[in-house]
Amino acid sequence: MQLIDGKAISAQIKKEIAQEVLQIKEQGGKTPHLAAILVGHDGGSETYVASKVRTCEEVGFKSTLIRFEDNVSEEELLACVDRLNNDNDVDGFIVQLPLPKHISEQKVIEAIDYRKDVDGFHPINVGRMSIGLPCFLSATPSGIMELLKRYNIPTQGKHCVVLGRSNIVGKPAATLMMQKGYPGDATVTVCHSRTSNIKEICLSADIIIAALGVPEFLKGDMVKEGVVVIDVGTTRVPSTETKSGFKLKGDVAFDEVSPKASFITPVPGGVGPMTIISLMKNTLLAGKKEIYK
Ligand code: GUN
Repeated sequence: MQLIDGKAISAQIKKEIAQEVLQIKEQGGKTPHLAAILVGHDGGSETYVASKVRTCEEVGFKSTLIRFEDNVSEEELLACVDRLNNDNDVDGFIVQLPLPKHISEQKVIEAIDYRKDVDGFHPINVGRMSIGLPCFLSATPSGIMELLKRYNIPTQGKHCVVLGRSNIVGKPAATLMMQKGYPGDATVTVCHSRTSNIKEICLSADIIIAALGVPEFLKGDMVKEGVVVIDVGTTRVPSTETKSGFKLKGDVAFDEVSPKASFITPVPGGVGPMTIISLMKNTLLAGKKEIYK
């Protein structure tokens, strides 16, 4: 079994990005600028956004964090999106999800200028991805592809089972795994909460991408020998072992599954750090106006 070290790979890519930013600055180019909108005080969202802002600093980007309280109106939030759309200094921005119930996430996502949508959530970016056109790829699936590439994991003709059908991970991961060329060309099955024979399907998988958000869902008796396992789960569970009072649990029962796997991502330190790096890559592309002029 080989551990897929997302922490080490992301540190390497971070260095590559920092190097390029340095070059851009030396040549008098514009410093890439990422803005993030954070609504409320959800623990997970706070952590993720803080990490995104910190990584911006580490690679030499400019970053702006805009905070609203939970009771912000949809109108106010949309006005902020509009302001960022029209701010020429901001190359890309994200609205951290989830949003409070009284705000339509879809409305907010669609209000973002797709040319600044570095999360890749806007229907134009999703649509372009699905037909293989240049676009901002959503960060988690893009990070997964990068891990498969950097570990030279074969995907052509393999049976890839995606657990979960979210717009952010499951659906785009399935799309990328089936697209033409490496690291795609896989035969993809998507399983979700209404799938009746998940165990049987998983047992025939060469690659499993687990993105259900159910801690330790994938058990040892659900996988075959030699399977490649990508664990996207990051459920926060209370813990007395950590200072923060919680720890992250993946969707995979690691101790049971890892002895049978050829490659497996740990949680934490697998997909998580790659997600943030993919966002940085998109911001760099946005700054260079490489995808959209
Ligand atoms: N919430 C969970 N993951 C993400 C992400 O990648 N981007 C945003 N904006 N919100 C999220």
